[in-house]
Amino acid sequence: MAESISITTDRTQTLQVFEELIPQLEALWLGESDEIACMANTAAVVHSVFGHHWVGFYRVINNELVLGPFQGPIACTRIGLGRGVCGTAWQRKETIVVDDVDAFPGHIACSSLSKSEIVIPLTNAMGEVKAVFDIDSTELARFTKVDREQLEKICKLLQRHLYV
Ligand code: SME
Repeated sequence: MAESISITTDRTQTLQVFEELIPQLEALWLGESDEIACMANTAAVVHSVFGHHWVGFYRVINNELVLGPFQGPIACTRIGLGRGVCGTAWQRKETIVVDDVDAFPGHIACSSLSKSEIVIPLTNAMGEVKAVFDIDSTELARFTKVDREQLEKICKLLQRHLYV
């Protein structure tokens, strides 16, 4: 297993950074079927490469989202279906991008520094949500179309690796 992630592209070139990053993530997952282990390295890589405030996973356990591997400040541990951005992405089974968390009704503020957020559900072969990938930024409207598409790609690859 590689000991570090190498990104040679200028960090302003978001698409190219993801294109360099994704094969390295796949290499990290290779031969490792444990959900926590793969999520932990994914959160560490995305956090270190992009410097987001909070990057992590919530897993669906007994019909609740339960805090999983993450990088960043402490976070709330349990979120119900339809609650906050995470619970809403789980309920709708779709990515939610929030440019201004204060404008999202029911947003759960784990950190007052979070200004924008993206939450992407991970599903199994039956289309059931198994987890969500949540990223918070201290910048308003931090997550672009490219971020969304590339983070969704990472989640599709990870869900295929873990659940399908
Ligand atoms: N803001 C999320 C809660 C999780 S934290 O951001 C880590 C939400 O509204 O669901």
